Amino acid sequence: MALEGVDCDTLVRDVLLNVAGAVAALDRHRVDHCCHGALSIAEACDRVGADPLAVLAALEEEASRPDALAPRDRELLNMPLEVLTEQLVTVFHEDARRDAVALVAQARALHDAEGLPVALDIARALESLFAALLPHLSFEERHVFPYVVRMEKASREGRLAPVALFANLAEPLAEMTRDHEDADHHLDVLSKLTDGYQPDATASPGVRSLYAALAVHHEGLVRHMHLEGNVLFPRAERLEAKLREGQAPARRR
Ligand SMILES: [Fe+2]
Ligand SMILES: [Fe+2]
Repeated sequence: MALEGVDCDTLVRDVLLNVAGAVAALDRHRVDHCCHGALSIAEACDRVGADPLAVLAALEEEASRPDALAPRDRELLNMPLEVLTEQLVTVFHEDARRDAVALVAQARALHDAEGLPVALDIARALESLFAALLPHLSFEERHVFPYVVRMEKASREGRLAPVALFANLAEPLAEMTRDHEDADHHLDVLSKLTDGYQPDATASPGVRSLYAALAVHHEGLVRHMHLEGNVLFPRAERLEAKLREGQAPARRR
């Protein structure tokens, strides 16, 4: 029996928000659920050469497992955007800034101590990742998130859309999404360098510790980008469209 309301045209982000076990099913077929939630299942499968019917079957199978992880973000669809953006900053942005310092230092220290070439490759991949990610976090905090919060306040108080640096949110959000794709690419590089963060049987405690920290960072950054790309950004764009619709000039007859 197919999952009700889910087919090849269903958006990946809707699957994530509504189907238990969706992450496991998408991971099985390497379908990206971090940066391309706005694609349909068919489009997302096309990007990675996966079979959409096999992905639909995997979704159904995962959803029927008794231990399937329930979709955990539905409450975020109604959470005030002010609270959601604050959580993103205080949890995920702070984690990323801490990791930017700690992980690079850990990889470089491992290279110094054990002379492992892979540790140097990891340090360089991390530096590339954070060179792009840190300005991205600042842009969100200075421009995107405050505008979203001002829009929400305007909507609550029945006022017009606030003035912004940009013509509309689509422009900065497209740039933020490209940054997420770039970060996702760097995560792929890290994952490949470390064999999916799996140290081999003879690995030293230093290697084990670094790989474990990288795996935690990977998971946190994917979730961070999911919450923005699949929850915050679409909600903000809908809110902007609603506010601007309310202030569109009346057409002359
Ligand atoms: Fe962010
Ligand atoms: Fe972001």
